[in-house]
Amino acid sequence: MEKISVKTEGAVSDILIGMKWEGVGNMLPGSGVAIITDSNVNRIYGEKFPDFPVFVVKPGEVSKKLEDIEFLAERLLESGIDRSGFILGIGGGVVCDIAGFLASIYMRGIRCAYVSSTLLSQVDASTGGKNGVNLGSTKNLLGCFRQPEFVICDPAMLQTLPEEEYFSGLAELIKTGIIGNRKLFEIIENNHERIIRRDAELLAMLISMAVGVKASVVSEDEKEGGLRRILNFGHTFGHAIELYKSFRHGYAVASGMELAISFSVAKGYLPVDESERILNLLKSFKLLRRHEVPLSQIGVLLRHDKKKIGDDMYFVFAQGIGKVTVEKIPLNEIIEFYRGGLASR
Ligand code: GLY
Repeated sequence: MEKISVKTEGAVSDILIGMKWEGVGNMLPGSGVAIITDSNVNRIYGEKFPDFPVFVVKPGEVSKKLEDIEFLAERLLESGIDRSGFILGIGGGVVCDIAGFLASIYMRGIRCAYVSSTLLSQVDASTGGKNGVNLGSTKNLLGCFRQPEFVICDPAMLQTLPEEEYFSGLAELIKTGIIGNRKLFEIIENNHERIIRRDAELLAMLISMAVGVKASVVSEDEKEGGLRRILNFGHTFGHAIELYKSFRHGYAVASGMELAISFSVAKGYLPVDESERILNLLKSFKLLRRHEVPLSQIGVLLRHDKKKIGDDMYFVFAQGIGKVTVEKIPLNEIIEFYRGGLASR
């Protein structure tokens, strides 16, 4: 097992990679714990959950609403959870978001931790301390920072993931290689077959490398005042595509990376051979889909992105595999790039 710590002001969050999730009971207080999960995870793993009250939400973004948070808070109150209580989220990114958000506001904040059950959440969503719910169609508009005390990433849980969910996580893994670890990218490139068959040993190593990148970024810039923006590579167009096309997050980010890469080449930041290598890797795992968003919609969707500041936006450009740069540019330049790309298709 490997332990990677995210160290922020006043908090240390331990990410435990390769630990068997069934051992989580030993890490919890003896009483006052509530478990939050979704119905898919509950169906597969529920029987082995520690013996505490379990609250089950519907799988997917549909549950990331204030209404659901309010409903869960009422259930916690009924169960007698007080200020000394502890929320354990067992699930993927949505469950971690809900559990973390609820833990941060319930009685002005109680303790929390996660068992992270998807590749997407193990490599990205469960680490970092951002929690949020959606407001209408705007993703994560309402949220806060709260670091979980620990996160268990057990690669054995990845064996039960539906194919699309697994590959959605792979897109974030590839993103992490592009933004900060060329070796990670190359290991993915050179181990296609082992990744397809979900080799647990390889996955544990890749998850550790990705968490290592994220932990060092978040430890340096928890609140996204600078460096942390690099984690948004592929996410500006990705979020618009996710909303408009209802793709799974990783597939939308893969399409967002395709656009960000060609924008980077157009700006002269990224050599064409590096861009082709990235595109080939995304294609080799069938992560790229048709993703056109009508011009009438793209501006509206980008304007709702919470990364927008006035008429500008921080955009993450690739400079090479393992190196990115962030530039504040006019939103109109991003929209114009998209318009040009559509026209040339
Ligand atoms: N919880 C996801 C993040 O902080 O990036």
